[in-house]
Amino acid sequence: MSAAVRPTNDPLFHHWMPFTANQQFLEQPRLIARAEGVYYYNTRGEKLLDGSSGLYCIPLGHGRREIREAVAKQMEELDYAPPFQYGVPVAFRLATEVAQMLPAGLNRVFFSCSGSEAAETALKMAIQYHRARGEGQRTRFVGRERGYHGVNFGGWSVGGMVANRRAFGVGLPGVSHLRHTHIKENNFQMGEGECGADLADDLERFVNLHGADTIAACIVEPIAGSTGILVPPKGYLKRLREICTKHGILLIFDEVITGFGRTGEAFAAQTFGVTPDIVTMAKAITNGSIPMAAVAVKEEIQQAILETAPPNSIEFAHGYTYSAHPAACAAGLATLKIYREEDTFNRVKALAPAFLEQVGSFKGMPDVIDTRGFGLLGAVELAPKGKPGERGFKILCKAFENGLVLRSAGDNLVLAPPFVATPDQISEMLDILRKLIKES
Ligand SMILES: Cc1ncc(COP(=O)(O)O)c(C=O)c1O
Repeated sequence: MSAAVRPTNDPLFHHWMPFTANQQFLEQPRLIARAEGVYYYNTRGEKLLDGSSGLYCIPLGHGRREIREAVAKQMEELDYAPPFQYGVPVAFRLATEVAQMLPAGLNRVFFSCSGSEAAETALKMAIQYHRARGEGQRTRFVGRERGYHGVNFGGWSVGGMVANRRAFGVGLPGVSHLRHTHIKENNFQMGEGECGADLADDLERFVNLHGADTIAACIVEPIAGSTGILVPPKGYLKRLREICTKHGILLIFDEVITGFGRTGEAFAAQTFGVTPDIVTMAKAITNGSIPMAAVAVKEEIQQAILETAPPNSIEFAHGYTYSAHPAACAAGLATLKIYREEDTFNRVKALAPAFLEQVGSFKGMPDVIDTRGFGLLGAVELAPKGKPGERGFKILCKAFENGLVLRSAGDNLVLAPPFVATPDQISEMLDILRKLIKES
């Protein structure tokens, strides 16, 4: 039954779902009623493995008691206070702990409520930073094809996901896109590909075309997640860093997926040994329990903005009603404590080789045209059957009936197991996927 003819007393009628095939969903609802550890339960009480850590946001598994209790305690003590011109102690504590996890120098932390808001925040900071230094003409941005930086106007403009751009007009002016880094020479290479570092030189071309002194920032995900786990070629991020430094362009890493351990270190910046000027993060900062995101910047970026403002004025005219919400900060602090106490990121390092080997073993199966991965992120790409993306979506639907929740990005099937999953649970996820691909 199409959405239009569904009766209004149908319990599924009113909710317009995000990034969902709404009409198809009504025909085949995929309702999740409960979750615990690495399992979801559907409305019939049947178990499903969480193969994608929610949306990459629940690395510690569902229903962590420590986080729940910290949030409840915080809500009893202080449920809300205005974040504009007032502060809450938990926010300062969380900012300090986040700064301690980042590469040295990235030590000023601004909170928002979603990854999309973090991207907007980062872009605006970049523009104001240059303005504060007398380079107000630097207003251009460089993003990348197949990048994802959320759904708000700045984020989708610098992003490179065609479907997310097409319906919404022209977006921000002055945006250029680097070519993406998914090249056939690197097919079936798990980890960083050998070829393609020179794709970073696209940035030099934009410098030549527009003038370095017009470009505010270059924003990339260290590993592009939402278009199917595009791992950077060896040396690519370093090259991008060098070009940015040479031309005074700020380098922004969007670590909304890679932040907090997904690559085996706290941030991909550390894993790849490249320090950006600004880092955005979200998702795993609260283990997905309460919406929260953050932008960390180098001290000198904040200082430039603060120092040029008149006394007693608001230096950065930006913020959200729920920036640094006390409950989210409490969830964040409890989450980071577990990461430390359970040595979670080293667990990722221990699990990753076998996981990646298993993802790589899909090579040779009929219609598998690529396998990729890094840390606990893995993708299997299939040749399309019918319209591009149709096969991937069918497998996502089938997986739900077969006890697995995963991500599909076009015809890429993506697994991002929770860090607390056991090797057997991870193998089970891959076994289900293998069976579904064979049947597809
Ligand atoms: C790299 C990246 N940036 C930004 C976002 C947007 O985050 P949110 O959905 O919290 O707005 C996402 C979401 O998946 C993401 O993967």
